[in-house]
Amino acid sequence: MGKAYLSEDQDGLLITDGVLSLRADFSAMRQRIRPGRLRSEILLRAAGIKGGRAIVPGDDGERPLRVADATAGLGEDALLLAAAGCEVLLFERDPVIAALLRDALRKAMLDEELQEAASRMTLREADSIAELPLLKGSVDVVLLDPMFPERQKSGLVGKKFQLLHLIEQPCADEAALFAAAEAAEPGRIAVKRPLKGPLLAGRRPDYALFGKAIRYDCYLYPEWKRG
Ligand SMILES: C[S@@+](CC[C@H](N)C(=O)[O-])C[C@H]1O[C@@H](n2cnc3c(N)ncnc32)[C@H](O)[C@@H]1O
Repeated sequence: MGKAYLSEDQDGLLITDGVLSLRADFSAMRQRIRPGRLRSEILLRAAGIKGGRAIVPGDDGERPLRVADATAGLGEDALLLAAAGCEVLLFERDPVIAALLRDALRKAMLDEELQEAASRMTLREADSIAELPLLKGSVDVVLLDPMFPERQKSGLVGKKFQLLHLIEQPCADEAALFAAAEAAEPGRIAVKRPLKGPLLAGRRPDYALFGKAIRYDCYLYPEWKRG
């Protein structure tokens, strides 16, 4: 497979190597974000959401749970959280992936079934290692899902996602990413890992949740919990 490049057609932005193509599009997620299905998403439990409703007590009544998705990628995890009611700040440092994600958010705002969730998603094209410390005290949950080297070889990687991996670099700065997440002082950090993958930055979680192919390592910080 050669180099991938960014292109545009009537349906928006895509990356292609001339043979395969990949775009960011949430329309395939419409079923998954319906309340009955959404409630069973392991990600919601990893974020500490109970009963599928991401509302917490605030100063003046209730408020949405605030999540920083520090490794947004194509934004699917962020969409699940936003559909549950979270306000999600998405960080994506790769300009090509950020452009695809921005295009997915634009399309979602035109889609009746996706626009409510999309309206709770804010994208920042930036490195979360630099940005998370600036959020100190203002987020409840930080989600980390950096690419792991094994994923490149895994059977989980569909042909289309091989295109993404031409752009996306495996995470070389795990300790810095984890430290930045802690510097935001959230009540919880949730780390998505392959089922049997190593701990991120070697950090032992308070508990883990297991899905079929993935695992969430959950780190709790009761001293910083708000709401
Ligand atoms: C495995 S993907 C995340 C997939 C995402 N959870 C989803 O649902 O689509 C990891 C993404 O994190 C981005 N990333 C890694 N480190 C980052 C950082 N320090 N700041 C911002 N983005 C980062 C990569 O460019 C890549 O797009």
